[in-house]
Amino acid sequence: MTTLTTPRAARTSGNPVRGRFNSWFLDLLDEYVERRLGDVRRELLGGLGGEVAEIGAGNGPTFRHLRPGTVVHAIEPNPWFHRRLAAEARRRGIELVLHPVSAERIDLPDGSLDAVISSLVLCTVADPAAVLAEVRRVLRPGGRLVFLEHVAARPGSVVRLVQQATARPWRWVFEGCRTDRDTGRAVRAAGFASVEVRDIRMATVFVPIRPQIAGTAIR
Ligand SMILES: C[S@@+](CC[C@H](N)C(=O)[O-])C[C@H]1O[C@@H](n2cnc3c(N)ncnc32)[C@H](O)[C@@H]1O
Repeated sequence: MTTLTTPRAARTSGNPVRGRFNSWFLDLLDEYVERRLGDVRRELLGGLGGEVAEIGAGNGPTFRHLRPGTVVHAIEPNPWFHRRLAAEARRRGIELVLHPVSAERIDLPDGSLDAVISSLVLCTVADPAAVLAEVRRVLRPGGRLVFLEHVAARPGSVVRLVQQATARPWRWVFEGCRTDRDTGRAVRAAGFASVEVRDIRMATVFVPIRPQIAGTAIR
């Protein structure tokens, strides 16, 4: 079952063409990404159930790793993802509560959740520090943010040069996605009680989204 928290009154987020394209493209790549990141996702998400939030849930590729019956508050402002997101929730037995809002302003109470998921999202949000502050706010003490993100490559490396050369078109096509963010540093600076970050090396032909990090931040 899908519940919508506020009316999807205005399709203000996401360009109709690029929004549809991005949802379709991520759907097309779903199995490809899962083959490469499935083990990491399983490890990060395997223990989660109950009531959680996922920022930038997209088409819901993480749902396959959550326990059926989990309540997921999906913070997904881009309406062009909502149809696939709801279908994936039905397929996986997830109770979806759809919040069509930005993660910079999460419409959930303070200290209300055990866990928040971020999968390939902190690259795209307009203000990562504001999003991380909101994530901390909605987590209960001891609650966790689990994240899997692509990040800036080492300065001077070939991958970093590719990231720099493709930055503008990449950001345009993928609606704000930046390949130059030091997300590990941003999470460490966000005031969590403890943070664990590790490097992931997903072998992918999509060079600008190498390398990646995964980890946990405890409130
Ligand atoms: C690259 S997609 C990742 C989708 C999905 N999490 C996955 O792993 O495939 C980035 C997602 O972040 C969402 N997004 C962008 N800006 C956002 C914001 N300010 N707050 C919440 N989600 C946002 C986009 O709509 C999109 O669904």
